[in-house]
Amino acid sequence: MSHEPAVADHYTHGALIDALRRAVEAAGLSPDTLTAADLAPADEFHIGGRQATLAFIDRLGFGPDDHLLDIGCGIGGPARCFADTVGCRVTGIDLTPDYVEAAAALSGWVGLGDRLDFHQGSALALPFEDAAFDGAYMLHVGMNIADKAALFTEVARAVKPGGTFGLFDIMCTGDGALAYPVPWARDAATSFVETPARYRVALEGAGFEIVAERDRRAFALSFFAALKANTAKAAKGIKAGPPPLGLHIVMGADAPAKVANMIANVEAGRIAPVEIVARRLK
Ligand SMILES: C[S@@+](CC[C@H](N)C(=O)[O-])C[C@H]1O[C@@H](n2cnc3c(N)ncnc32)[C@H](O)[C@@H]1O
Repeated sequence: MSHEPAVADHYTHGALIDALRRAVEAAGLSPDTLTAADLAPADEFHIGGRQATLAFIDRLGFGPDDHLLDIGCGIGGPARCFADTVGCRVTGIDLTPDYVEAAAALSGWVGLGDRLDFHQGSALALPFEDAAFDGAYMLHVGMNIADKAALFTEVARAVKPGGTFGLFDIMCTGDGALAYPVPWARDAATSFVETPARYRVALEGAGFEIVAERDRRAFALSFFAALKANTAKAAKGIKAGPPPLGLHIVMGADAPAKVANMIANVEAGRIAPVEIVARRLK
């Protein structure tokens, strides 16, 4: 049985574009003068936010002439960050219709609509021709996809020979059951966290060679420490932190529990965000 309907249901908001528009206005910003960076507190749905995306971009070597595929693009924060800083074109695909609509709307608000397009669909059945893209990337998506071998075989099909595929996923780095809910799943039924070793095997089996791998646990822990310090300051009435524009809009009412469990799981050493850079063999 496919887990995809349950995964899309987990992420579905219902009125996301209106909620984001209200948050933009409450933050004193206007959709007419907004930049991609302004949206970053709310649209980069992974550990480390835009800071992590910028560090990831530095590792991948893409250029302005590239046309990239963003797998599991969410509401498009990483795609806008790539288009804005690298100058490339990006096509995003995501399972959750709400997110695809929001990705297109937000890209129009920040004036990047001409370099970005977004499609609803599954990473396991990409609606694109063979070798359609110069490269691909994926941030915090593999945790929702059980069959990594099928996923990477499909990515290899869509990327040109020699093309780079960058991944930044939360991976299994220790023993012990995860505390739920987490941002990507309400329980273990739709959570498929795997070890970096299994990622490497699945990538190599799909026709990629591994170029680099980096465990981002230390980065994640310092990011969480800054987050906690910000929350503590806000609790004392000192003006701090990014709200009203924040990831709580995308994650919904149980955002604090999801984030607290994710942090506890990383602190306990059960999981960590890991980057892998792979290259499609010729
Ligand atoms: C944690 S969010 C990350 C979103 C985005 N990559 C980012 O970093 O902002 C995970 C995303 O993966 C998408 N996703 C999960 N399984 C998928 C699948 N099989 N095919 C396409 N997208 C999928 C979800 O809809 C969700 O938008």
